Amino acid sequence: MSVRRLHPDQPESFAFTEENAAYLQKVIARYPEGRQASAVIPALMVAQSQEGWISRPAIEAVAKLLDMPDIRVLEVATFYTQFQLSPVGRKAHIQVCGTTPCRLRGAEEIISICKNRLAAHPFELSADGDFSWEEVECAGACVNAPMVTVGEDTYEDLTAETFNALIDGLAAGNPPAPGPQNGRFFSAPEGGDTTLTDGALYDGSVVGKYRAFDREELTPAPAAPAPAAPAPAAAKPAAEKPIPKVVEAQGQADGEKVPDLHKPELFEAAREGKADDLKLIYGVGPKLEEMLHNLGVYHYDQIAGWNEMNLRWIDQHLGSFRGRAFRDKWIEQSSKLATGWRPSNKDGDKPV
Ligand code: FES
Repeated sequence: MSVRRLHPDQPESFAFTEENAAYLQKVIARYPEGRQASAVIPALMVAQSQEGWISRPAIEAVAKLLDMPDIRVLEVATFYTQFQLSPVGRKAHIQVCGTTPCRLRGAEEIISICKNRLAAHPFELSADGDFSWEEVECAGACVNAPMVTVGEDTYEDLTAETFNALIDGLAAGNPPAPGPQNGRFFSAPEGGDTTLTDGALYDGSVVGKYRAFDREELTPAPAAPAPAAPAPAAAKPAAEKPIPKVVEAQGQADGEKVPDLHKPELFEAAREGKADDLKLIYGVGPKLEEMLHNLGVYHYDQIAGWNEMNLRWIDQHLGSFRGRAFRDKWIEQSSKLATGWRPSNKDGDKPV
């Protein structure tokens, strides 16, 4: 664990952009009167997304915004390793989990790649200023060890090869989809399912709803028939079963370019000059909303009308956010939002 202190070189000042300030007013409004300090973490996150790191003036601006003593905001900023207290790489700051499960599964090798390819020491900028790295404590993805965090994304089940590919992708502005990098489905068994294999459990009603969605609705190939009753483990070794490849279903695994014929209808500007609040889509923040606007996406019904290939086309233009559109099921969320439904927490519910 590193010592967390403010950087010796600090900027003169910090001010939230108009858009970020407006967004934070909405966040603050979630909390009861007098409890605006509860918004300290989102406010620091927004400050970091705006400047790339947390400076003393940013801490002071957050304290002023939330009517808190500076020291209390400083305590939060210095406690959580999610907050960067010094300038980080322009393209990525890589946080390598170095806690026991990740160590046992190869974190050491990931750290040596950081030292050899990026910078000799944590928090040092790479020669081109594009990258920096640090070692952090458990990020809660031990079952997919070893793993790293880049911004809001995690890259899991890494090997030297896939980690090098991640660095290459980040450098080229085309990182792989976040999540497991070995093709496994979230934290499902690497060799495929060995228990609860009765297809009736995954009929899309309750248990295993995600499987019905990701494996059948999103996969272009016809859905496989539901498996028969579970076979004894000895009669059907796990290794014979196909590994679910959700990333392939997302059109991300092979980096295949989706041709422009699948480009969805994009607008020059929002209808009647008023865009829908795309941040109500779970997983979409101010930065991603801006990228969508730049692409010509402004409305829920616009997204709701896309098909899978349209979504893939958009997804490939989302830089380091690639994979989110599928993971968070934007089409389904937007279909609900287009009907007038609103998430209970104002900032987007979990994917439907
Ligand atoms: S030990 Fe690395 S994510 Fe938990």
